[in-house]
Amino acid sequence: MRIEDHPILGKAERGKRITLNVDGEAVAAFEGENIAAALIASGRRVFRYTAKRMEPRGVFCALGRCTDCVMIVDGQPDVRTCVTPARDGMVIQTQVSRREGEATHDLEKEKD
Ligand code: FES
Repeated sequence: MRIEDHPILGKAERGKRITLNVDGEAVAAFEGENIAAALIASGRRVFRYTAKRMEPRGVFCALGRCTDCVMIVDGQPDVRTCVTPARDGMVIQTQVSRREGEATHDLEKEKD
């Protein structure tokens, strides 16, 4: 689900096709687009879970301000995916946000 031809902005210009690894699955993206755009285009809406209530969060502001879209990217937690360009081969994980005093952990560890 991508806008190919916008009535005001015109036809979308795309970088070369790349692949992201998201929670172990291959997700198609285009070089230069942000990670969040690629994930939304692939149908993903949940990017992280809150620490206290494990509530799902996804893109909210899309400006890099709210942190609702943070994920673990190449082992780095708290990456704002709405303002981070996608690169071929990136490993991205859904993030379970930190509880106070705890290190960030991912869903796989949460399941154990
Ligand atoms: S959606 Fe708000 S920082 Fe990314």
